[in-house]
Amino acid sequence: MLEHKGTVTIETIRLVLRKFRTKDAEQMFKNWASDPEVCKYLSWGPHRDIKVTRARLNHIIERYNFDNAYYWAIHSKRGNEIVGSISVEISNERRKTCEIGYCLSKAYWNQGLMTEALRAVLHFLLYEVGYITVQAKHDVINVASGRVMEKAGMTFDRIEYQCSRRRDGSLCDCAVYIIGREDPN
Ligand SMILES: CC(C)(COP(=O)(O)OP(=O)(O)OC[C@H]1O[C@@H](n2cnc3c(N)ncnc32)[C@H](O)[C@@H]1OP(=O)(O)O)[C@@H](O)C(=O)NCCC(=O)NCCS
Repeated sequence: MLEHKGTVTIETIRLVLRKFRTKDAEQMFKNWASDPEVCKYLSWGPHRDIKVTRARLNHIIERYNFDNAYYWAIHSKRGNEIVGSISVEISNERRKTCEIGYCLSKAYWNQGLMTEALRAVLHFLLYEVGYITVQAKHDVINVASGRVMEKAGMTFDRIEYQCSRRRDGSLCDCAVYIIGREDPN
């Protein structure tokens, strides 16, 4: 059995990962959700109106009523603002596997921040919640995301050919990375 704990606060050297709050809408919209470059390889966005961000936030906050909802806002200690998100997108309770997704404000790219966030979240999901395997996938041309997965200790597993569509309608191949631990049961 997984031991769900909900989106508890996780602190790292430079970040605080915490639950989203309704008042985060302005920073979320401004810092990443409205940025076409951040959303280039994502299945959603960019948000053209802050109302869309507010609706998304309300949905996330409602999900916090369930202790198997993992959706963190990434707060930069130095910037003193929220700069991105990291979340469990898909969870299979029976198999004890899940998939993670993340995004970060462009102003904070290439400082090792998402690697720091991903490492902390992987540790939490594997050793505190009890997932056996955690996976993440990226569009093969989104090389930076693959680097984050590698640096966080995940291993390349496979390519899923034509696994989704890009914004421009073209089919995209996804690289899948995994990390796991021994199941004692
Ligand atoms: C992908 C993303 C999360 C990376 O976050 P980050 O905090 O900048 O990542 P890190 O700084 O920890 O590591 C980035 C690595 O990618 C490398 N990198 C950055 N841009 C690159 C590029 N265009 N090609 C190759 N490598 C690149 C960096 O050099 C770094 O590797 P290094 O430490 O070996 O030098 C961030 O760019 C982002 O949010 N992008 C938009 C949303 C997104 O794509 N999410 C993932 C969907 S699968």
